Amino acid sequence: MKKIILVFAFSLLLINCKTATKKEKIIGLIAEKAMVVSAREEASKIGSAILQKGGNAYDAMIATHLALAVAYPVAGNIAGGGFMVYRNADGTKGTLDFREKAPLAAHKDMYLDSLGNVIEGRSTFGANAVGVPGSIAGIFEVYQKFGTLPFKDLIQPAIDLARNGITITKNQSEGLSDAKKAFQAVNNYETIFEKDWKKGDVFKQEELAQTLERIRDFGKDGFYKGETANFLVNYITELGGIITHEDLEKYRAVWRNPITFAYKNHTITTMPLPSSGGICLAQILKSIEPYDVSKYEHNSTKYVQLITEAERRSYADRAHYLGDVDFVKVPVDSLIDLNYINKRMRNFSWDKATPSSEVSQGNILGYESDQTTHYSIVDQFGNAVSVTTTLNTGYGSKVVVKGAGFILNNEMDDFSSKPGVPNVYGLVGTKANAIAAEKRMLSSMTPTIVEKDGKLKMVVGTPGGSTIITSVLQNILNVIEYDMGMQESVDKARFHHQWLPDIIRMEPNGFDKITKTKLESLGYYIYEKNSLIIGKVDAILVLPNGKLEGGADKRGDDAAAGF
Ligand code: DON
Repeated sequence: MKKIILVFAFSLLLINCKTATKKEKIIGLIAEKAMVVSAREEASKIGSAILQKGGNAYDAMIATHLALAVAYPVAGNIAGGGFMVYRNADGTKGTLDFREKAPLAAHKDMYLDSLGNVIEGRSTFGANAVGVPGSIAGIFEVYQKFGTLPFKDLIQPAIDLARNGITITKNQSEGLSDAKKAFQAVNNYETIFEKDWKKGDVFKQEELAQTLERIRDFGKDGFYKGETANFLVNYITELGGIITHEDLEKYRAVWRNPITFAYKNHTITTMPLPSSGGICLAQILKSIEPYDVSKYEHNSTKYVQLITEAERRSYADRAHYLGDVDFVKVPVDSLIDLNYINKRMRNFSWDKATPSSEVSQGNILGYESDQTTHYSIVDQFGNAVSVTTTLNTGYGSKVVVKGAGFILNNEMDDFSSKPGVPNVYGLVGTKANAIAAEKRMLSSMTPTIVEKDGKLKMVVGTPGGSTIITSVLQNILNVIEYDMGMQESVDKARFHHQWLPDIIRMEPNGFDKITKTKLESLGYYIYEKNSLIIGKVDAILVLPNGKLEGGADKRGDDAAAGF
C-alpha cells in the first residue's frame, strides 16, 4: 500500500512538474480555425474579420495587404511588390510573383558616373530608384483566381483606416523621425510623413484613401491607368525619373511553379526566381540534412558553424548565378541537385572556418529589419497563404506621389549596379543580376509553407533583406529539429552569414560568450553591431490537435488575430 501511495505521489509530482514547465513555455495566440499574423494589429484584425465573414485566405490576403499599406507605410504598400506562396486545402500549391520590374528606359549602367563608379544614393533615394510597382497587379491576379467576396468589401476597411487614421506606435514615431530628412530631400513639397509624429497621434491619409477608392471603383486600372497613373507619372517626371505610362500599362504579375523539396520527412514549398530565397533555402537545408542537427544544442557553436558554412556556400552561388530567369539562364536544377550540394560541403571541417574566397572591406550599412513585411494566413477551410511584400528599404525611395498619397519603392537597388559592388544589404552580384529594361531584380524574400505527411504544418516568412533566407531557415529548424512552438521559435535569437562579407552577424545578447569565443577561435568573425534585430518573423503553426498557434515577432509591433 505504501508503495502505491508513493508511486501515486510521484506521479502527481511529475504531472505538476509537467504543468509547471508547460506554463513556462512561451505560447503565441491560439485559434481554433483561422488566423492572420502581420506587422500591425489593425491589419491582422481586418484580415481575420474578412475570414470571419466567410471569406477565404485569398480574400483575407487582399484585405491584409491593403490594410498594411495604410497602417504600416514603412513597408506595406500599393506601389511596391512581393511574392505569395499558397497551399490550398486540397494540397495544390503555387506562387505568384508581383515583383517590381525595371522601367523600359532602364539600362545596365544607369547608376554609374562617367568614370564607371556607382553614384551613391541614386539606386536607393528618389525617383530614379523606383521599379515599376507590382502589388496592385498581384492583388487583382489573386482576386481573379481565388477571391470570393465582393472586392469592395475587401478594400473598404483600408479606405476607412486611411480616412479615419491609424494610431502611431513608438516604433513608427522613431522610424518616421529617422526618415524625415530623406522625405524632405527627395520631395518638392511637404509630405504628410515628415511632420513630427508622436506615439499616440492619429495619422490620417486622405489622398491615399482617395487612391484606394479609385482602385475600388476601377480595379487594376484605378492604379495603372487614369488619374492615379497620371499622378504617379507626372510626379516621377517632375523629379527626373524614367517611369512612363507604358511601363505601368505593361506590368503583369506572374504565376510561377514553386520550389518544392523534402527535408527530413517534411515538404517545403517556397519561392522560385526572381527570388533567390527558394533556391538558397533548398541548398542550405539540403547541405545540413545529412547531419543529426537536433543533437547539437540550439544556437551552440556546432549549430552556428554548420549553418554558417552551408550559408556561405549558398550565398556565393547566389551572387554568381542568380537573376531573373526570364532574362538570364540560371542552372536551377544543378544548383539544388543533391550531388552538387554534397560536393560543395565536402571541404567543410569542424576544426576551422572555411574562409570566403574574398573578404569585402566595405562598411556594412546599418539597417533594421522592419523595412519589408511578411504576413501569414490560414483560413477556416484549410487554405494557407504566405506573402512577403516590400518597398525595399524603409519608406522605399521616400518619394510620396503628390496628390495620391502613396510611397514609391526603391527596389532598383536590388539589382547589381556594378559587378562586385555591394548593395544596401552588402550583397554582391554579377551579370546575372545586372539591370535591363523590364527585368525583375533579384530578391531574397522567402515566403514559405511547410507540410508533414501531406498536411499543412507551418506558414512562415520575414523581412530582413539578405537575412530573410536565414531567418526563415532558422524558424524551420526550430520547429522541425527542436520541436519548438511557433512563438517560442520566433522569439529565439538569430544569426546570419552571407559569404561576403565574411562575418557572422548575430543579434546582440542572443548568444552566450563561450559560444562566441569558441567560434572566434575556429576562425569565424562575429559581428553584433548594426543588426540590432535580424528579421521580423510572422508565422503560423498547425498544432497536433489541429489548432493554430501564431508567432508574431515581438521585435516589432506585430500581432496575430484569429478565431
Ligand atoms: O527583395 C528583397 O530581397 C529586398 N528588397 C527585401 C528588403 C527587406 O527585406 C528590407 N527589410 N529589412
